[in-house]
Amino acid sequence: MSKITAAITAVGAYVPEYVLTNEILETMVETNDEWITTRTGIKERRILKDPDKGTSYLGIKAAEDLINKSGVDPSEIDMVIMATATPDLLVASTASYVATKIGATNAFSYDLQAACSSFLYGMSTASAYIASGKYKKVLLIGADKMSSIIDYTDRATCIIFGDGGGAALFEPNEEGLGLQDEYLRSDGVGRDFLRIEGGGSLMPPTAETVANKKHFVYQDGKTVFKFAVSNMADVSERIMQRNNLSHDDVSWLVAHQANKRIIDATARRMQLDDSKVLMNIQRYGNTTSATLPLLLNDFEKRFKKGDNLIFAAFGGGFTWGSIYLKWAYNA
Ligand code: UT7
Repeated sequence: MSKITAAITAVGAYVPEYVLTNEILETMVETNDEWITTRTGIKERRILKDPDKGTSYLGIKAAEDLINKSGVDPSEIDMVIMATATPDLLVASTASYVATKIGATNAFSYDLQAACSSFLYGMSTASAYIASGKYKKVLLIGADKMSSIIDYTDRATCIIFGDGGGAALFEPNEEGLGLQDEYLRSDGVGRDFLRIEGGGSLMPPTAETVANKKHFVYQDGKTVFKFAVSNMADVSERIMQRNNLSHDDVSWLVAHQANKRIIDATARRMQLDDSKVLMNIQRYGNTTSATLPLLLNDFEKRFKKGDNLIFAAFGGGFTWGSIYLKWAYNA
């Protein structure tokens, strides 16, 4: 019997309607379009304005888009993984709620949190379950309502993040397509540079933590940038080398959308032509767990069966890594 690999067989996505442009941000904090564009590549982001809706809403809409496009019967899904840094609630799994709402009534489900690397790590998890032979349909959703944890008076973070969700279905493949190799890393030295200090077990919420804005994202951008540039480029180069891939062999770079300059640096190290570097940061900003599936959904029609995709991500923790996947279908 040939080896089972895990292929992506369908994708879907959702972004909220409200568009927060650089021009609007200029009226909220001391910033300007020129600074944001040249330092990050971002022009606008989407924000989920409805206060009654959480990350599950983004995940449900993305999964429903996938289900509608692919025709997959949700009752046949074995497992739902929800990659997110902004669960609806603490303790109660967001994945379980999403699975029930989309009709994945026979699935088991759980959340996976690795900051901006959540979806990348989730790809590894989904693939391992498929490759084990035990499960046939694993739905991986990446969604974040970043606006729920951003301080819109802090210009260092509010210009970067946006809300969104995306989904990918993993199924067994016997033609050798799908996930080929992965190189995943983490290093706890990073925990102080990108984090929310309050609300966890180290600093439970109090009136004081709220007053001192301890429940918002803090980022030492310069330090994170430095680690992100070198580490994302290192792992992407390494995964190419150990799979004997030249820059000609790589069809697409699917990189976490945190900063255009970080993506460009990774592409340069891989000696990739710009035309192979997928980019939608200008429209969505950094949607954390949703960046990779939003790219897959936006560029799905350009992918051909057999294309070599290199995924790369870097995020809080620190967490980072690269995955080599062969695309399995023509849209
Ligand atoms: O997704 C998870 C991983 N995250 C990342 O990969 C993000 C990594 N970091 C970055 O992308 C960048 O560090 C930022 C985009 C966050 C910041 O860009 P930077 O080029 O590193 O800027 P900086 O923080 O070094 O600030 C440069 C200057 C400072 O002024 P002075 O001290 O040089 O006078 C800042 O005060 O720019 C100022 N500045 C701003 N100016 C206008 C900072 N934020 C803004 C702003 N608008 N929004």
